[in-house]
Amino acid sequence: MAPYAHHVFICTGSYCAPEGRADELYGLLTRLLGDLGRYDNPVRVKRGITPCLGVCTGGPLLVVYPEGVWYHKVDEAALKRIVNEHLRNGVPVEDYIFHRLTPAPDA
Ligand code: FES
Repeated sequence: MAPYAHHVFICTGSYCAPEGRADELYGLLTRLLGDLGRYDNPVRVKRGITPCLGVCTGGPLLVVYPEGVWYHKVDEAALKRIVNEHLRNGVPVEDYIFHRLTPAPDA
């Protein structure tokens, strides 16, 4: 498998993301990633969906690894910021973070 820099999971479970909103975001993510989604890009972003992240409220939810940054209430505008600020420039979008697996670097 080719190397990659980030792995993004979007929860498509109906408890936190009703009305197919997460599926729409997943489709949009594919387009927003552009070159970051290319298989031969060493800093590419792998993406995937999951039926549940164990939170089940406040969605749509999205988690970015390896940082372990969890986002909630993700809409189209938030997703654009996450792609541009976090995945492209390495700066997590604090406005939508509700959980971190490890403390923020400057905490
Ligand atoms: S349904 Fe999304 S976290 Fe459980």
